[in-house]
Amino acid sequence: MKYTVVLPAAGSGKRMKADRNKLLLELSGKPIFIYTLEVFDRDPDCEGMWLAVKEDERELIEAYVERYRIKKVKGYATGGAERQDSVRAGLEMAAGQCEVVLVHDAARPFISPTVIRELVEQANESGAAIAGVPVKDTIKKVRESVITETVNRAELWMIQTPQAFRYELLMEAAHRAKVDGFLGTDEAMLVERMGHPVQIVESTYDNVKMTTPDDLIYGKAILASRLQEE
Ligand code: CTP
Ligand code: MG
Repeated sequence: MKYTVVLPAAGSGKRMKADRNKLLLELSGKPIFIYTLEVFDRDPDCEGMWLAVKEDERELIEAYVERYRIKKVKGYATGGAERQDSVRAGLEMAAGQCEVVLVHDAARPFISPTVIRELVEQANESGAAIAGVPVKDTIKKVRESVITETVNRAELWMIQTPQAFRYELLMEAAHRAKVDGFLGTDEAMLVERMGHPVQIVESTYDNVKMTTPDDLIYGKAILASRLQEE
């Protein structure tokens, strides 16, 4: 099943505390976001990628895409103040090109092709499917340093990207969110609030988002272990 992917890449990476967009930081000599693009470039089912970027970083990002010979980038949308704005801009550019669309953080370079395939199939069948993993730790609610509740872990999942949708469904959800001034932390929330069920696909724990400096240490370790496996 073919799909198109929208990759938000227009953040500033404040929590990474680097001097530039964290996506440009290198892991073993290659920018983080290039690893992400390579996964989709190599996937025969991926028909194209749309990147949402900051206007003043566009040239630099385009140069990297060329240097690393990434073939499937169809174009660049101008990102917005919030991630949701960047995703919407990317979605608008992908209009009329696909039945199933994936949204994937450019900052998650370790996504598995098997999970992508499963997400696309599920989204095609049911409309919406997102990647996640069961929570490993005990989770408690805390107010003013005191536990108020221990939440039943069996029902808790940590949500990742990719998130896959029938294009029309996600576009309508994104439109309604904009009209209502609703800001979600992922795409699924926009679809959930329309009353549409969202399936979960079990992903892998190493599909981490490069967010804080310690994630880079983890990222290097993942790369090293994958090289050993080859
Ligand atoms: N993103 C985006 N547009 C924004 C904010 C984020 O396209 N206005 C992108 C980021 O580039 C990243 C993904 O969304 O690929 C996930 O966001 P996050 O990890 O929060 O990245 P940043 O917003 O850059 O980091 P921070 O929140 O620490 O500033
Ligand atoms: Mg952010």
